[in-house]
Amino acid sequence: MNKILVTGGAGFIGSNFVSYALERWREAEVVVLDKLTYAGNLANLDAVKYDPRFTFIRGDVADEGTVRRAVEGCDAVINFAAETHVDRSILFPREFVFTDVVGTFTLLEVARDVGVERFVQVSTDEVYGSIEEGAFDELAALNPSSPYSASKAGGDFLALAYAKSFELPLMVARSTNNYGPYQYPEKLIPLIITNALEDRPLPLYGDGRQVRDWLYVLDNCEALALLLERGEAGAVYNVGGDCELENVDVTRRILKVLGKPEELITYVKDRPAHDRRYALSCERIKALGWRPATPFDAGLEATVRWYVENEGWWRPLRDAAFEDYYRRQYGGR
Ligand code: NAD
Ligand code: TYD
Repeated sequence: MNKILVTGGAGFIGSNFVSYALERWREAEVVVLDKLTYAGNLANLDAVKYDPRFTFIRGDVADEGTVRRAVEGCDAVINFAAETHVDRSILFPREFVFTDVVGTFTLLEVARDVGVERFVQVSTDEVYGSIEEGAFDELAALNPSSPYSASKAGGDFLALAYAKSFELPLMVARSTNNYGPYQYPEKLIPLIITNALEDRPLPLYGDGRQVRDWLYVLDNCEALALLLERGEAGAVYNVGGDCELENVDVTRRILKVLGKPEELITYVKDRPAHDRRYALSCERIKALGWRPATPFDAGLEATVRWYVENEGWWRPLRDAAFEDYYRRQYGGR
């Protein structure tokens, strides 16, 4: 890897990946292209901003001119840029189609035109939809439920079509729910941590017994790096944490780490078309030697500690966009 373009590198997983990449590939340059939406935050890149191998470009992945400038000289591209929150996609779907479909298309067009050597499309288990029992492997049909997962599925299909039609050396990585430092506090784990720290109600949708599989963000970064290095062109790779939990269990574990009472849990109206359970079979990435290395308890403790120690990071996010968004959705919580 000589020069890698990381789109969406100011977001949660992208910013973790940038630090990880600069460590893993000691000679490589890393270019971040990010629009800095509400979810993008330059503070996420503070640790690397003076690194001479790091460059930041503010711009939209759906803007071809900007993408051309960003891709110039890069031999590898990893596309994290996306609108990512299911609840927002139900309220405001348009941005999801622009970024997750048109943005991915724009990036693919430029990548094939300039002859990028490695391309990883970062996707999600949500494209498969819900599964009552068993687990989806990479050949399962896609059955998305929300505008978010449908837009991600659109991006995946385009990416795989570019691998087939134009032999773009591309892999699609579909991971389960990530957690760790720098996750925007609208997602379940950081929302529960930050609300609990202030003794606010912890809103669980429906009966709180939906199941997600949890993957520590740095384990995902390792899997993605491996795919950039050795993934098979044209292949999809599922990436899971071997850690299925009901939302209420995740919440209880957070409360235990923080020493807060379970009475904070509040059951609220369910999300429309809420997927009951996600589960992946991940044999293909395991055949490359990858395993999720971080046990959930250890990852969760590290994550809780990070939020406790970094109130200055999350409080402004909560007080601005997040408060406004929840007021509109729930009428004044
Ligand atoms: P995030 O919402 O924290 O960050 C998204 C980043 O993309 C932000 O920095 C934002 O500014 C940027 N962005 C948005 N629209 C853009 C545009 N048009 N042009 C350029 N940049 C733009 O997201 P995340 O949780 O870090 O997720 C990253 C990727 O991983 C996404 O593609 C998501 O679908 C996928 N994913 C996430 C999870 C998870 O649990 N968080 C799980 C599986 C897959
Ligand atoms: P989320 O973090 O939004 O990720 P995703 O929907 O992409 O899996 O939600 C994780 C689970 O937690 C999901 O089942 C919805 C649930 N959830 C709540 O019960 N309450 C909340 O306030 C949020 C944000 C999520």
